[in-house]
Amino acid sequence: MCRHFGADNPSSMDITQAREVLPTNVKPVHYDLTLEPDFDKFTFEGKVVVDLDVIEDTTSITLNTLELKVHSAKVTSGQNVISSSPALAHDEDGQTTKVSFDQTIPGGAKASLTMTFTGTLNDNMAGFYRSSFKAEDGSTTWMATSQMEPTDARRAFPCFDEPALKSTFAVTLVADDKMTCLSNMDVVSETTVDSKVTGGKRKAVTFNKTPPMSTYLLAFIVGELNYIETNSFRIPVRVYAPKDRDIEHGRFSLELAAKTLDFYEKTFDSPFPLPKMDMIAIPDFSAGAMENWGLVTYRVVDVLIDEKVSGASVKQRVAETVQHELAHQWFGNLVTMDFWDGLWLNEGFATWMSWYSCNVFYPDWKVWEGYVTDNLASALSLDSLRSSHPIEVPVKRADEINQIFDAISYSKGSCVLRMISKYLGEDVFMEGIRRYLKKHAYGNTQTGDLWAALSDASGKDVEKVMDIWTKKVGFPVVSVTEGSNSIHVKQNRFLRTADVKPEEDETIFPVFLSLRTKDGVDKDLALSSREADFKLQDMDFFKLNADHSGLYRTSYTPERLRKLGLAAKDGLLTVEDRAGMIADAEALAASGYQKTSGILSLLDSFKSESEFVVWQEISSRISVLRSAWMFEDQAVKDALKHFQLDLTKDKAHELGWSFTDKDGHIEQQFKAMMFGTAGIAKDETILKAAFDMFNKFKSGDSSAIHPNLRSSVYAIVLSSGGKEEYDVVVDQAINAKTSDERNTAMRALGRAKSPELIQRTLALAVSDDVKAQDIYLPISSLRTHPEGIEALWAFVKENWSELEKRLPPSLSMLSSVVSITTSSFTKREHIKDIESFFASKSTKGFDKALAQSIDAISAKAAWIERDSEDVKTWLKKNKYLQ
Ligand code: BES
Ligand code: ZN
Repeated sequence: MCRHFGADNPSSMDITQAREVLPTNVKPVHYDLTLEPDFDKFTFEGKVVVDLDVIEDTTSITLNTLELKVHSAKVTSGQNVISSSPALAHDEDGQTTKVSFDQTIPGGAKASLTMTFTGTLNDNMAGFYRSSFKAEDGSTTWMATSQMEPTDARRAFPCFDEPALKSTFAVTLVADDKMTCLSNMDVVSETTVDSKVTGGKRKAVTFNKTPPMSTYLLAFIVGELNYIETNSFRIPVRVYAPKDRDIEHGRFSLELAAKTLDFYEKTFDSPFPLPKMDMIAIPDFSAGAMENWGLVTYRVVDVLIDEKVSGASVKQRVAETVQHELAHQWFGNLVTMDFWDGLWLNEGFATWMSWYSCNVFYPDWKVWEGYVTDNLASALSLDSLRSSHPIEVPVKRADEINQIFDAISYSKGSCVLRMISKYLGEDVFMEGIRRYLKKHAYGNTQTGDLWAALSDASGKDVEKVMDIWTKKVGFPVVSVTEGSNSIHVKQNRFLRTADVKPEEDETIFPVFLSLRTKDGVDKDLALSSREADFKLQDMDFFKLNADHSGLYRTSYTPERLRKLGLAAKDGLLTVEDRAGMIADAEALAASGYQKTSGILSLLDSFKSESEFVVWQEISSRISVLRSAWMFEDQAVKDALKHFQLDLTKDKAHELGWSFTDKDGHIEQQFKAMMFGTAGIAKDETILKAAFDMFNKFKSGDSSAIHPNLRSSVYAIVLSSGGKEEYDVVVDQAINAKTSDERNTAMRALGRAKSPELIQRTLALAVSDDVKAQDIYLPISSLRTHPEGIEALWAFVKENWSELEKRLPPSLSMLSSVVSITTSSFTKREHIKDIESFFASKSTKGFDKALAQSIDAISAKAAWIERDSEDVKTWLKKNKYLQ
């Protein structure tokens, strides 16, 4: 992980050296695994038989275990018992158990290791864990479910827990009759056995043997479940949910999954190899969803949707998640990265692919336009920090591996693929993907294997243009200066803190310039050196990075930027160009390449803009600016809010905030967003409308607030209202019917600013009313005001040991809490405070998040120091400030 060693010169060291891996004297081939959960003690009893190929003469076998109590072990080879009670040595820190014996098993032989063990059905959403839902009578019903990625299969059973050690698995689950048992494969038999838990009889459900697969993709579920099924795909597809849920809410995901599987097997020319596909909603789930082969698990809100009560953006998130996890069934599950430093292959591809197929299924959603404000924006944002890391980064331990499930692996990873797919053409790119999947099916790969397949399909040297993008941290800013009939372009490393040292600016990125002129886009133009000149026919109109498919920022002269603003109005730029240009302009202002007054004028010139995505970008840019100015003078802050109002109100009123069936997917989100942006800036009419809807809702009219407006209405009434409004929203956060409604309410609570209400929000976040998976929801909105930011930080400091207990550092939640809590500060004294608090504490599991927060704060501090006067002058000149 980064911890700065990765940032320097990653390619000079062997990435595999950092890995902490098992000895290679044996290789697992097959596991027979039986697990039986105990819902009284919240433990499980297990037995595993691992068949091994012995690679070299062997007197010990080391495999991964974590928080398992091993009762017995036995080693055999063919007919010979090698040891019926081998010595067991557990290494807590290394998360392994070494099984040693006196006899030597010769290299080339087969061996078999049998172990019995007890594990904990834990509350940490890792390994084989417990989750619960409330039955109708209010009693708690428990289920057991699993989350293995990245390195928690070792909590469920002793195993060789590395992605390259693929094996087949035959799983048996033992449980009461009322329980549904699920695993990756279909059921082969159901028998009655003696229970290890009750002493009586229980059913044993045995599943068919899996194809060769990695341990992190295994899944086991035992619970009281309902399901719906579709036969519209070649094999049965089901959506399961706990019995307290309306299973019909899975219909949208079910049908989409069937269509998506069909589309993917055709697009990849590779049939889905398993006999069924189950998808299931899990009440306690740390990520959004997990791609277990044949048994995809989801957070409830990411798979179940009641279209009557959820808005368009929720539907899009569900669609994205389903398609993302199904893309992994090929890219990740069938072909797997060799080790976690190749995580981006999995996550970058699944992200890119979900956009690709969403665009095929829902062309009217125009998802690629939004890509620029979503993935491209997050990639460039994180990667502009010194504490970012290369896409391929050495990782060895669980706490490090967990931290790279970040915007670099997902967003930058997918941007790199978008860049090469645009360069090669999507058809050629997909042909390369087909070759890659064919060649490496059931195997493991490194990044070079993907480039090789793409080269093979395109006849171009892909590695040459792509290698640097995954091996080096960061991206360039391309500065354009103009001659009479040529442009001069120069690349330098871009850092948000604007303090690039020469040794950090040594990488020359292969930059696709994608020059847009009136004649179209020149795709072949590339900058492969520090600087170069290019002739132009017509200096009147040109723009680099057409559609922003390249990973860089472009810095133009102020005069050119003004001309581009006009070109936008003349219809010479695409939506992606307009949104991307605004994003670049602000990032460059925030880091000192340009003046902030320039971006304010640019935004002002976009008042007549017609497209949703561009407005989304405008709205984010103002929020970023306002958050950076969070701790500045009230008068300046009010002036910025006034500017936001002036900029957005006309569009908001023009679109209105009533919805009909005729509104398309984008229009719905457009109206909702403009209503929210102008409302938060205190547009009088919108404030009144929001309170009207809210009051009707409060007095029992459950349809008074349209689902698309719910989050904005809550945000508006809580930021201007008091206890009365708060009580209604809290009640929704705890008691509303669907998870989406509860989350929307929960997410708004932090908007309330009075000290008393802030304390209630904080107390709620750590109470039993909020599941650990949702702790980020109420605290996130505290970041919208200085009082909230300070109170949250004070609370976290005071309750640190409690939080550490509740959110173990090996998982990702503590890291998100640290990031949410610290990243909104803006001053150098804040950095001192944060650093001094953590100086005496272990930062294991969140060291990256912390370093990134501190970088982000110093960037904001420098921005304000540089441009505070510039902004004031602009605000005065434009009559927002006296
Ligand atoms: N493989 C991940 C799930 C995961 C995340 C496992 C972190 C372990 C640690 C899964 O494919 C995924 O990426 N899920 C996303 C949803 C997606 C739509 C981006 C998530 O969980 O947010
Ligand atoms: Zn994923």
